[in-house]
Amino acid sequence: MKRDATIAPVRMAEDWSPSSWRARPAVQQPNYPDAAELDDALRQLGELPPLVTSWEILALRGLLADVAEGRRFLLQGGDCAESFDDCTSPLISNRLKVMLQMSLVLTHGLQLPVVRVGRFAGQYAKPRSADTETRDGVTLPCYRGDIVNAPAFTEQARRPDPKRLIKGHARSAMTMNFVRALIDGGFADLHHPEYWDLAWVEHSPLQLEYRRRVEAIGDSLRFMETLAGRPVGEFQRVDFHTSHEALLLHYEEPMTRQVPRQWGWFNMSTHFPWIGVRTAELDGAHVEYCRGIRNPIGMKVGPSTKPDQLLRVIDVLDPDNEPGRLTLIHRMGAKHVADALPPLLAAVKAAGRKVVWCSDPMHGNTEALGSGIKTRRFENIRSELEQAFDIHAAAGTRLGGVHLELTGENVTECMGGARDLTESDLTRAYRSSVDPRLNYEQSLELAMLIVRKRGAATPIA
Ligand code: PEP
Ligand code: CO
Repeated sequence: MKRDATIAPVRMAEDWSPSSWRARPAVQQPNYPDAAELDDALRQLGELPPLVTSWEILALRGLLADVAEGRRFLLQGGDCAESFDDCTSPLISNRLKVMLQMSLVLTHGLQLPVVRVGRFAGQYAKPRSADTETRDGVTLPCYRGDIVNAPAFTEQARRPDPKRLIKGHARSAMTMNFVRALIDGGFADLHHPEYWDLAWVEHSPLQLEYRRRVEAIGDSLRFMETLAGRPVGEFQRVDFHTSHEALLLHYEEPMTRQVPRQWGWFNMSTHFPWIGVRTAELDGAHVEYCRGIRNPIGMKVGPSTKPDQLLRVIDVLDPDNEPGRLTLIHRMGAKHVADALPPLLAAVKAAGRKVVWCSDPMHGNTEALGSGIKTRRFENIRSELEQAFDIHAAAGTRLGGVHLELTGENVTECMGGARDLTESDLTRAYRSSVDPRLNYEQSLELAMLIVRKRGAATPIA
């Protein structure tokens, strides 16, 4: 068995296989009504080509090890859930554009290279609070994301359909293919001022600071291109990584492969799978599945997580304490982060654990308005993030990155931001069928605020 020289080896778990999760309690899984139909889809999926390669996965682990050491910053973002219908050219390219622009703002302002990870090319399964939904006396399975069933409230739409596993793989491959082509083709032609849609800046009290920053980025890009004699988009080959919640284990299992000249198993459907807050049980199927793959693993940590419980899960997922293996994504809510985060940071630090800490300021700040609309307030998102930076600084730990739900479109789903979107704006362009996302302007504004908070010492002009 050949061991990789640059990445410290994880132990091959002798008692693990891609299907060993099946012996554990598996929450949040659909009940497929036809076992033969499911087996057929799983067999087909197991024969389809992978979406990523083992060397990309290991390279990302190396980059995340740098994040753990403070040499890079992690930007993870994208939709709450992708839908099959949204697998279109403008939606994919606009999402890529906003992520690239945010990463430039962060790189420039923090003076650190940014590791870009999309929540896309596989983010098709969603955890739900109940298995079924009842309307007017009719009870049907709940909608669990496009890779499982369809949202319409009919028996046919809600039936978990294994053929959707194959379609999910195909949609992920199309997304991935387009993203790779855009990146390789110099899509990041970011030095043109017209490429930046900055009308919103006029509405911000920080207008002058933001304009200076964008101008400074433009100057830096032109300088680098002159120096290199080629466009910026060509500087790096694999510039973007993918991630999704490893929720639907029937999908993850057949995508888990061994490859020539590498030891162990890789989830080849994504570079960076994460475990959601509802599926992070120590003895549960999701932790069992994730412990055996060599991908870097993310794990959401919520306000009810206890320090000793967290340490036990870390022992299982990262027994050899390898930097880059485990990213803990805390999502506490602006109201709870000051109480809930410090004990966890202290315990993980005292145990000498080399995790990446990442803040998700979205999922603890979701609220339902009187009208029933789900939203998030920009001020709460900003507040959780700013508190997180301060709490890490006080604890002597490092906030290595952010995890955001965003889109490149001008949707109106989160309230506030420079244009101060209000409740009445929300009905104008609310497109998410799940959680509310930051729009293009709010995403860019948040990147500027991160720089302001974290990189206050860095001159901008
Ligand atoms: C999500 O990231 O969309 C999600 C469901 O998050 P969490 O597991 O943190 O609730
Ligand atoms: Co979400």
